Amino acid sequence: MPRGRLHSASLRSAPVETTEFCSAASVGDTLQIRPFNEGDLDACYAISLATGHAGGDASHLYRDPKMMGQIYIAPYALLEPSLTLILEDRDGVAGFVAGAVDTAAWEDRLERDWWPSLRQQYADPVGVPPDKQTADQRRAAMIHHPPATPAEIAERYPAHLHMNLLPRLQRRGAGSLLLETWLAAARTRGARSFHVGVNRTNVGALRFWEAGGFTALIFDRATESRTCWMGRDPGEPQDQDLV
Ligand SMILES: CC(C)(COP(=O)(O)OP(=O)(O)OC[C@H]1O[C@@H](n2cnc3c(N)ncnc32)[C@H](O)[C@@H]1OP(=O)(O)O)[C@@H](O)C(=O)NCCC(=O)NCCS
Repeated sequence: MPRGRLHSASLRSAPVETTEFCSAASVGDTLQIRPFNEGDLDACYAISLATGHAGGDASHLYRDPKMMGQIYIAPYALLEPSLTLILEDRDGVAGFVAGAVDTAAWEDRLERDWWPSLRQQYADPVGVPPDKQTADQRRAAMIHHPPATPAEIAERYPAHLHMNLLPRLQRRGAGSLLLETWLAAARTRGARSFHVGVNRTNVGALRFWEAGGFTALIFDRATESRTCWMGRDPGEPQDQDLV
């Protein structure tokens, strides 16, 4: 199948209204960035699983195919749908970007409105040493004991986001378009500084966030986990206009 780079020439400026843009003529397919609706949820769970192993397919690792999505997309889509954007092509939902403008407040909200019902659904693997836990058990442990974003990060870069695209739309510029669209939506909600947490082995994602203006953050304990924290300062002209 011919593949080409997408462009934003026809991307309308309103960030969370239905926004259509066409791929380069040589590709000949049509893409849309649009707000999430509840009918997208199953596709979002599937995308989270299909891209959940350092950017690659995680389906061989999990017995429960919703496990990844329960942490990385469903709470955003259901609790913060206005900051959840869907990328769709003619074959269906092919990606999403989601996040929150105030990470500390978001973590409090999850503790109130999201984790309690999942804790009824998934047992805490108490007594199973971390190195003996299955992938499902490791995620269940996160549901019972969600690791907080380091305070240094949440205070300096309060907003955060996640993005996942199916392989058929990777490396064609769609992620860059989604990123700019999401940042614009988040700015209208007051966000200025952003962070992401990236698995250190996901080299493609590290390069993507770097290309999008994020830099790896150095702070105490920064190298202890498998997560590389990256931040983006309010250096863009549109941020400065709004400050
Ligand atoms: C990471 C991801 C969101 C990037 O979106 P994308 O549409 O593929 O990225 P783009 O085509 O917009 O790339 C923009 C730039 O980022 C860099 N980049 C993106 N993916 C890259 C890769 N795999 N390797 C190296 N550089 C990469 C390049 O500089 C690229 O510009 P170029 O194509 O002109 O060289 C997407 O590939 C994806 O969803 N991957 C699987 C899930 C995932 O890893 N999510 C992130 C978790 S933190």
